[in-house]
Amino acid sequence: MDKASLIAEIKELKAKHDVLILAHYYQDGDIQELADFCGDSYFLAQKGQTSEAKTILLAGVVFMAESVKILSPDKKVLVPDFNAGCSLVSGTPYDDFVAWRKQHPEHLAMTYINSSAEVKAVSDVICTSSNAEKIVQTIPTDRGILFGPDQNLGRFLEKKTGRKMLHWPGQCEVHVLFSAKRLFAMKEENPGAIVLAHPECEEAVLVHADYVGSTSGILNEIRTNKSTDKFIVATETGIFHQLQKARPEATIIQAPFEGHCQCNDCPYMKLNNLEKIHRTLMTLENEVSVDDQLLTKARVPLQRMMDISNDKPVSWPTTFETPQ
Ligand code: 13P
Ligand code: SF4
Repeated sequence: MDKASLIAEIKELKAKHDVLILAHYYQDGDIQELADFCGDSYFLAQKGQTSEAKTILLAGVVFMAESVKILSPDKKVLVPDFNAGCSLVSGTPYDDFVAWRKQHPEHLAMTYINSSAEVKAVSDVICTSSNAEKIVQTIPTDRGILFGPDQNLGRFLEKKTGRKMLHWPGQCEVHVLFSAKRLFAMKEENPGAIVLAHPECEEAVLVHADYVGSTSGILNEIRTNKSTDKFIVATETGIFHQLQKARPEATIIQAPFEGHCQCNDCPYMKLNNLEKIHRTLMTLENEVSVDDQLLTKARVPLQRMMDISNDKPVSWPTTFETPQ
């Protein structure tokens, strides 16, 4: 089937089955265009929770769809490909994470949303890159913080807020590939260009950035910062679709990598495509399921994130209780 017919059929199936499509900014432009809403990981979780839709197809990675399911257990949440994982999720085995928690029972565990449902269930609060600073500032100052699984985001937060943290040694396999040395050279060649970076990049890259923030933060900065029309962006390729749409006249350059690879495509995000979305809407299979007990436990830290983000008061557990 050609692309135009495929898109037309997806729209028909979506209407027929009354499915809301949510897409992350790292999806291909075609997928972003047919989605009802595009956003960063916080926005997708929030939209999934607040929408009236009974069935949601999440075009992103599986932990994002799982978060929607955990926050809205009554909704049917579909994914185009269950293999759409994340190096932060696979780099955080549950048993090792629990062992880390047991070593520091008085610390609160602040866990990035890029984690499994099991790891969320033994965490105290979840964060995304767009609300992480606010969440750190809400954690009582007499409590230690265990931050995982992204050590680069954790170190960035530590620097920004002045709060000491212990870090889980995880990283995003895509964002660590940007080259600080080549970025420095690119800045020299493009005087006046503003550098925007995702906090999953290494510190050596972040020191060259004029703005560090989530995917929606980067988009907002490009939309609103009219002091220049040249930007260098250190994050995944999918977002360039929205960036260029927001500022068609601007020159938006991808930050460079070591060597000559063009490796800023997330291999997991890019597993999704129009054919798989079409198939998922035909069969309504590929439904995310989270065991009831696990879901109940994982919802506590996720809901705490939602409450803090919405300026609601929260309470904190006094100590880590080893799971049965
Ligand atoms: P955002 O929350 O900024 O969209 O980031 C998600 C992600 O996976 C970045 O690699
Ligand atoms: Fe995970 Fe990195 Fe892909 Fe984001 S870009 S989903 S952090 S592997």
